Amino acid sequence: MPRIALSAPPELDPDSFRAIAELAYRESGLTLVAEKTTMIQSRLRHRLRALGLSEFAQYCAFVRSDEGQDERPQLISALTTNVSHFFREKHHFDLMIDVLSSRIAYTSANPVMRVWSAGCSKGQEPLSIAMSILEQLPECAANDFRILATDIDPVVVKFAQTGAYPERMTKGASHNLKKKYFEQGSCAANEPLFTAGRLLRELIRYNQLNLLAPWPMKTKFDAIFCRNVVIYFDVETQNNLWPRFRNALRPDGLLFLGHSERIANPERFGFECIAPTTYRPIHS
Ligand SMILES: C[S@@+](CC[C@H](N)C(=O)[O-])C[C@H]1O[C@@H](n2cnc3c(N)ncnc32)[C@H](O)[C@@H]1O
Repeated sequence: MPRIALSAPPELDPDSFRAIAELAYRESGLTLVAEKTTMIQSRLRHRLRALGLSEFAQYCAFVRSDEGQDERPQLISALTTNVSHFFREKHHFDLMIDVLSSRIAYTSANPVMRVWSAGCSKGQEPLSIAMSILEQLPECAANDFRILATDIDPVVVKFAQTGAYPERMTKGASHNLKKKYFEQGSCAANEPLFTAGRLLRELIRYNQLNLLAPWPMKTKFDAIFCRNVVIYFDVETQNNLWPRFRNALRPDGLLFLGHSERIANPERFGFECIAPTTYRPIHS
């Protein structure tokens, strides 16, 4: 019987780990800790396979070279954590509705309203924002209302743009909402597939955007959702972001963070905490 020589899968050595961690931090703010070496190794092995490389040292040399520039988004995509679901931390959506209702009550006809889902992953968050608006403030949707949804990871942005979710990804969205706002089809193995309908699609614009890079948006936001994103950043990177978010908000706007994220000393950055993980600019 002929023997098949199986080569061992590449190991992520400490030098390569340091090189990848340094690049990830510089490119995206992600802080990689040595305890996660095994997870990072398994996430990156498929990149080595795709490029026909047998060692992490070769991969590091490539991704840091001029020719390897196109590989950098793939590296960041492999390192980001994209877990999300519909109506995650529902209390934030209810508070957003309060803010938008008072804007409608106090503003003259046709106010411009903007919400930003910063770190939107595969789109469940902006779609939950859109469904909350359509359900509870349909007059808002009839005004100049838009949701901007951005993420650094081109793979998830592309997914979100398709707006198509196999049933297993629709956790959190009720049967009624799916029936009302999604078109139902089926995907592989006859699993139901829910595709965002016209009403939802018209409200959301998806774009790739690195939060560490300059932000091209000119209008101010009524609400910014940046949830479960800064948890992967160090304090310095987080503290550089808070003033930028404050500057991007309307005076009565709200910033929502994830359940395990906080602004330490919010007053230092011109914010007050008005509800769990919810911040509003302070007016002097
Ligand atoms: C865990 S998901 C959060 C999704 C959604 N906000 C939620 O709470 O369900 C984190 C997302 O942040 C994105 N992300 C990480 N670093 C980023 C950066 N520097 N700029 C923009 N997005 C980033 C990741 O690609 C990922 O999709």
